[in-house]
Amino acid sequence: GSNADATPWGQENDQADPALKDASIISQTEAMFKAQYNVVTPENVMKPENISKAANTYDYTAADKLIAWSKANNIAVHAHTLVWHQQSPAWLNKGDAANRASAKANLESYIANVAGHFKGEVISWDVVNEAFSDNTSTFDGSDWRTGLRKDSPWYIAYESGADASKGESGADYIYDAYVAARLADPDATLYYNDYNETYKFEEIAQMAESLNEKWATDSRNTDPARKLVEGIGMQSHFWVGQDPDVDATEVETTIARFVQAGLRISVSELDISFAANNNYHLDEARQAQQAALYGTLFEIYKKYADNIDRVTFWGKADLQSWRSSGMPLLFDNSYAPKAAFWTVIGLGDTT
Ligand code: G3I
Repeated sequence: GSNADATPWGQENDQADPALKDASIISQTEAMFKAQYNVVTPENVMKPENISKAANTYDYTAADKLIAWSKANNIAVHAHTLVWHQQSPAWLNKGDAANRASAKANLESYIANVAGHFKGEVISWDVVNEAFSDNTSTFDGSDWRTGLRKDSPWYIAYESGADASKGESGADYIYDAYVAARLADPDATLYYNDYNETYKFEEIAQMAESLNEKWATDSRNTDPARKLVEGIGMQSHFWVGQDPDVDATEVETTIARFVQAGLRISVSELDISFAANNNYHLDEARQAQQAALYGTLFEIYKKYADNIDRVTFWGKADLQSWRSSGMPLLFDNSYAPKAAFWTVIGLGDTT
């Protein structure tokens, strides 16, 4: 089961068509969602800029609606996301707060407030999202911190005032974020979430290993058997017939490395997009091509079923996707199942 952005009342994504506000479409979405999925990730409503526009100001209206709806329908909520270089309000880490002491205080109070608010209501959190650079040449192979996005406002603020002689650096926001999340909601499973992990898996695995080693001797750790960074979200935004396409070997190597580090895995934002909208949903051969790629992935996921907690698609039907023109999902613009759907549930012809 799975899915993204369950806001059937119309809080849709950036490419949303006004027709989506039409009541019949909304109820169609809701019915389809309830029939097909058992866990939901809010696509936008729990992002920092939507929760807290100014210091000490928190608005949980939209997110609480999602929680209430999920509870009423027996659907679990995976929460996304606490710490990101995008979609975050300035008060956290910019301007006067762009220094280590202020950013740390703000990060800790934000996480205590937000993860505290949703304590007991969500099964897990993407604590830190997309901390690593897309430029893989920055990673020196031995120190995960060299691979980070140095232009993240969090990194910049934490670097300002860091004492290098004590081993401090801009990277320290990541550890602080996980500790704050653990203290605020001890029962939630804590994930790190990123994309293009077939390129970034070594630095991500090293980061988790290093933070978990540090936590093992942290005086705030009351459960030594439990890791701090417990799992990795593999976003999995793939392409049909384009590099990076779905490469089974690379995906498996990535999963195996995370498993070796003792981590759980969630496929967190799966979609496989065509490069352009050519009405491919009407073209059987193209649909079969997309379905086969989904099939390749699910064969791997089944092989690692003991390690994978969930598979979440980044959207419900193509018309609501952040990549709507690429028609990347299992349901088409009319909420009808595509070839990919039948393949994923194991009834399709993937030859
Ligand atoms: O809600 C406002 C609306 O009121 C306003 O009129 C409109 C004008 O632009 O913007 C709307 O907000 C948009 C929001 O989606 C909801 O539709 C934002 O501009 C737009 O930037 C935002 O895009 C989201 C994007 O993250 C940035 O937050 C996408 O929907 C969402 O799919 C995407 O999701 C990310 C994951 O969080 C992390 N991994 C990558 C993934 C894809 O980029």
